[in-house]
Amino acid sequence: MTVFMTHKIVIFDTTLRDGEQSPGMSMNLEEKLLVAETLDAMGVDVIEAGFAQASDGDFEAVRAIAGRIKNSVVCSLARAKSGDIERAAEAIKPAKQGRIHTFMSTSEIHLTHQYRIDQNACLEMIKDSVTLARKFTDNVEWSAMDATRTEKSFLACAVEMAIKCGATTINLPDTVGYATPDDYGQLIKYIIENAKGADKIILSTHCQNDLGLATANSLAAIRNGARQIECTINGIGERAGNTALEEVVMAIKTRADMYPYKVDIDTTHIMRASRLVQNITGALVQVNKAIVGANAFAHESGIHQDGVLKHAGTYEIMTPESVGLLKSNLVMGKHSGRHAFKDKIKQLGFELGDNALEDAFTRFKLLADKKKDIYDEDIVALLDSESRREDAIQLESLHITCGTVGPQTAMLALRVGGEIRRATVEGNGPVDATYNAICALVPHVASLKLYQVSAITQGMDAQAEVTIRLETPEGRIINGNGANIDTLVASALAYINALCKLQSLQARETLVP
Ligand code: KIV
Repeated sequence: MTVFMTHKIVIFDTTLRDGEQSPGMSMNLEEKLLVAETLDAMGVDVIEAGFAQASDGDFEAVRAIAGRIKNSVVCSLARAKSGDIERAAEAIKPAKQGRIHTFMSTSEIHLTHQYRIDQNACLEMIKDSVTLARKFTDNVEWSAMDATRTEKSFLACAVEMAIKCGATTINLPDTVGYATPDDYGQLIKYIIENAKGADKIILSTHCQNDLGLATANSLAAIRNGARQIECTINGIGERAGNTALEEVVMAIKTRADMYPYKVDIDTTHIMRASRLVQNITGALVQVNKAIVGANAFAHESGIHQDGVLKHAGTYEIMTPESVGLLKSNLVMGKHSGRHAFKDKIKQLGFELGDNALEDAFTRFKLLADKKKDIYDEDIVALLDSESRREDAIQLESLHITCGTVGPQTAMLALRVGGEIRRATVEGNGPVDATYNAICALVPHVASLKLYQVSAITQGMDAQAEVTIRLETPEGRIINGNGANIDTLVASALAYINALCKLQSLQARETLVP
């Protein structure tokens, strides 16, 4: 039986590589490990953990993930350069199962203007890079960058070369998001029919979302013989993003009549993964986003509500539970006990040791004193703030004087690496005063580019969630977020979160020339 006739679809998640390399999405080592463990628990087949040669920090992250992950294959990206491939091989060494993913552009426009080489030289680069990668592992993926704008007959030659040299997965990326479902499906079919050996390896999709067609293109590809989908949580990725894992997986599961394939994803982990990536990157999921948006399972119209109450299937094609959204997310209040709290944390997919659980419970009680109803989202925010307790900068106290008569003043105390620093600073409004105080206590060159507040849940006593974006003079974007019942405390926490990320990024990053 040829590979493309099997029914298993390999889910290849590139949240930590394609996702992480897009503006404002950078994650620190602990955050990457957390995401990787979540993907592993969810049943993702391959985790692209990073681009080992990009920086020492990326190398360390791929290596740490490779050492930690139990089930998924851990993969590193590498350009068609020996240094990249050797570094990727070194980074994936601790993995139970590792993969090197090497790539080369194949389109005329890339070869002429970016690489300044002809097609023969391109074939030589493919030969050398795949052959070298195979010396380190027998699990080698080769990608034809800009495949969808490549002359088809040359693409078939390039694919043949990569297969001949030992690539076991061939990826045909729609790098610029130019394809449509019809032509992408035809391209996959063309390669299976015209590139020798293509029916014996796994063909893969990697669709950017510039025209909003990434999910549709990926699905068209598998109907035409592709057996791996590259995707990211929440669809984060370069420019308009990548194929959203939750969309392709739920489309395959929900429309098994159209897509009679097997995906080994435990979909009940989807919401947790989505929230985790949202919290870490600060990239808010739009409310009407398919599967994971806040409104994805909300029914507002009277007719729909009436139908759903009588029979959920009248207006729901998937159950909220199938993606990990609990039916009633009104959880607890101040009378809820330790046991109920522990159960809820487990239901939400978190695992805490005894001490961490006790700390989280104390904070839950403090929150419950201020807020009558505690929702799942409140608990997720609380656990998120627990995970920051080891951060180098901690908020000790904040007192604001504000109102109609300025200037507004912030009295702030921060713990910076164990030392308490205090400042009283004025500003044009309470947020400005708070941020001026943070800048006075922890001087840095990045400037504030975005500040946004939303309510985590409904109700007058909802916690505020603040997302901010800093930009360094070199154009590096860092997001931070913070949640609190007090919007100004949430604002301070968001800024501190971004500063901690900035500091750890600067500390770990020695860019490779
Ligand atoms: O978009 C692209 O072409 C890529 C490849 C390196 C897979 O990200």
